[in-house]
Amino acid sequence: MSDALEQAARVLHGATSIVAVTGAGISVESNIPAFRGPKGLWTKYPPEEYATIEGFLEDLAKVWRLWYELGDLLADSAPNPAHYALAQLEQAGKLDAIITQNVDNLHQAAGNQHVIEYHGNGKRMVCLECGAQQPIPEGPDRPLPPRCVCGGLIKPDVVMFGELIPQDALTESEHLAIQCDVMLVVGTSAEVYPAAQVPHTAKYAGAYIIEVNPEHTAFTSTITDAFLQGPAGHMLPALLAQAGVTR
Ligand code: OAD
Repeated sequence: MSDALEQAARVLHGATSIVAVTGAGISVESNIPAFRGPKGLWTKYPPEEYATIEGFLEDLAKVWRLWYELGDLLADSAPNPAHYALAQLEQAGKLDAIITQNVDNLHQAAGNQHVIEYHGNGKRMVCLECGAQQPIPEGPDRPLPPRCVCGGLIKPDVVMFGELIPQDALTESEHLAIQCDVMLVVGTSAEVYPAAQVPHTAKYAGAYIIEVNPEHTAFTSTITDAFLQGPAGHMLPALLAQAGVTR
């Protein structure tokens, strides 16, 4: 066993307030592609066309086609051992919350009760006119693009580049980062702000940072205290077992 795993497990065992920050990497083992890298979504679908509010408004049908495809992928996906490990940590009374950048709903599906959706939820859509939220339709004959009964444009309820993070998610995340004594940072490239600011805030407020990722990130040599190098589906269950949270 690595020294980092042993040390992280010791700290986790003694912690009273743990908060997790998760990114696309935690869902890779659920067969949902991450955003960056050779197999990343943004490598196949240029983000300026598909992930900016300007790109969306320019070609609603094109962007909606992608979101319907992603919706089908999400409908077929299930939590993996990493998601279940975080659910067990919450059930054990040790995890205060998950702040997730993911829009796949898999933390909720694994059973976590306190999930802050920093970038929204890809199973929901929202009317830009009246604010009504509803599930993104599944199955054949979906309208392209969908329209609200009020006549307004409807957008997937996800934060696109050029949009603000929901204020309550920002406020609550900052509060959690300041008060936690351990932050678990799992499967994020640390490239997108303000989400990447959250672990920095925790670190400066005194938290111990455990990072789980197969690759080094901008956090690893700056704020990470224990780097658990490997896939989350293996590392998180190993960490919980070593910390005595699970057997
Ligand atoms: P990225 O695609 O940028 O990074 C995914 C990270 O997961 C990388 O650091 C990988 O090394 C790591 N990874 C891959 N497989 C893993 C595994 N099995 N276990 C653990 N880690 C693994 O995804 P995010 O950091 O989540 O925003 O991207 C942040 C934001 O950029 C997203 O929320 C999205 C995107 O644009 C919006 O859409 C607003």
